[in-house]
Formats: sequence, structure tokens, C-alpha cells
Amino acid sequence: MKVVIIGAAGGTGQALSLLLKTQLPPGSDLSLYDIMPVTKGIAVDLSHIPSAVTVKGYFGDSLPIVLKEADIVLITAGVARKPGMDRSDLFNINAGIIYDLVKQVGRNCPKACLGIITNPVNTLVPIAANVLKKLGVYDPRKLFGITTLDVIRASFFVGSLKNEDSSKITVPVIGGHSGITILPLLSQVNGISFSDQEVEQLTSRIQNAGNDVVEAKAGDGAATLSMGYAALKFTMSLVDGLQGKPNKVEYAFVAGNTAYAPYFSQPVLLGREGVKEYLDVGPLSTFEQQAVEKLSSVLKQEIVLGEQFFKERT
Ligand code: LMR
Repeated sequence: MKVVIIGAAGGTGQALSLLLKTQLPPGSDLSLYDIMPVTKGIAVDLSHIPSAVTVKGYFGDSLPIVLKEADIVLITAGVARKPGMDRSDLFNINAGIIYDLVKQVGRNCPKACLGIITNPVNTLVPIAANVLKKLGVYDPRKLFGITTLDVIRASFFVGSLKNEDSSKITVPVIGGHSGITILPLLSQVNGISFSDQEVEQLTSRIQNAGNDVVEAKAGDGAATLSMGYAALKFTMSLVDGLQGKPNKVEYAFVAGNTAYAPYFSQPVLLGREGVKEYLDVGPLSTFEQQAVEKLSSVLKQEIVLGEQFFKERT
């Protein structure tokens, strides 16, 4: 397995690199890329951790070489939010970065699975899809917006509220990765019930959790450690799926099969080619039904923004 992290010198990139160094299957190649020379040092640092994963660091104009023969590429490059900003405020800078990087991915490892962590995910994934389409290498089963952070946060918040072990709680989260497009399906949490007030409060808390981190870091970035952990969780399921292990299901922002929006975070069964099967979001409560109607119009607008950017850029 060859995994490439683009943006490896950033906060999320470093956390994810550390976790993957310890978790990838023996014999894997973990290639770290960033524009800064420190990336080489980060790789040397990580290489001292005993595991059968080879780590190499690259920077500058070496990306085409790094990408060759990659099985999985994870992009976390770009700028993070500051207090008072919305994820969509990052669009102007990050859209151009993703556009250029995905072009290189499409040219150098067209068969790789590509996971986008950079925000705004809802808008950048459609840009990536269009770049790959233009290059004639788009395979929707292999392009993912990583929304696992919403899923792990939801487990934690439900566990704290109900005094339960959050590591044993699974909360489906569908939609997208910004504001009201993040929709936890609390009605589907096994063995736990919620009052209407709890549903409203938890939903809002999960939707705004990213803001809480941005405010708490007070101008010094957004979530990086929990994001690194979330991306690890998603990547390990993807690795397992690619290696033929059964029953690997994750929620991810994909060009799936729901009627809500052309790209939507839904459960996917992962297999040897990326998505093996798009799974149903399951039964929704009245609250969730109303929320999904509202979120789908916001999500569609965010997707159109990405498609317009692509048209203007090409
Ligand atoms: C998050 O959800 O924490 C990340 O998307 C980073 C951010 O800007 O909120």
C-alpha cells in the first residue's frame, strides 16, 4: 500500500502522518509531501518509530514523482479558518490549491483513491471531480470528501450527554461538512433515545463543533488532532477495503445515489475499487426529514459554486 499525504507539514498532516506510521499494514510506503523543506525532517523524525512502514519526505516540485504508484492520496493542504470565519471563507484560496493538486494526482496516479480533507469540503470535492473528469480519469468510486470528524464528534457528544462510553456509540452523520449541511441521525443511534430538546441541542452542537475548536485556538488554526484521528479512521477502512476485507463501512462525501444532492455524505461499503456499494441513509425521523430538505438546498448551492469555479478556471 502506498499512501501519500499532501500538506503533511501542517497540523492535520503531521497528526495523520504519525498515526498512519503506526497503523498502516507492514510493508506500506507512507510518502509525505508539502511545499516546505521541513517535510523531509518530519519524515526522518517519524522514521525512528519502530514499525514496518517506510516513511519518506518530499517538498517543492517533487510532487509528480511522489504520486507515482500511489494507492491512496490524502489532501490536507491549504489554509485553515480563523475565529469569525466560515469554512466557505477559505474557498478563494483553497479552491485554486486543490485545483492544481488534483491535476497532478490525475496525471500521475489516475487510479489512486483520493480523500479531500481541506475545506470547504462541500465545494472542493466537486472541483476535484471536474478536474479528474477533464483529464478523462474520473472514477466516482475513488473520490471522497472526508467527513469522519463529524461522526467521531457525534459519538463523543452523545456519550458525554448520556454518560456512556463514547467509543462504543455510533452516530450516522449525513449531508456535508459545514453548518447545517452536517446532519447527525440521532434517531438511528442504537439503544439510546433522546428528547426533542436533546435532539435540537446535540444537532446544533455537532454542527458547530468545528467553530468551537477555531474559537478555542484563538487565531492559531482549526481542528488538527481530532481531524488527524478521523482521517486515520477513514483511511484504515479504505486500506482494508482495498485489500479485500469485508464489511468496511464509513460515511463520506461522495457522488452517491441519494436524491438530496449530487454529492452527499452517506454510508458507503468500501471494497477493492473504492466504493463497492452506496448504502441507504436509512429511516429518518420527522426532524431529520425536515433538516435534510433544508440542507440539500444549501449543499446544492455550495456544489454549484465549485462547478462554477472549475468552469471559470478552465
Ligand atoms: C472541523 O470541522 O473542525 C474542520 O472542518 C476544520 C474547520 O474549519 O472547522
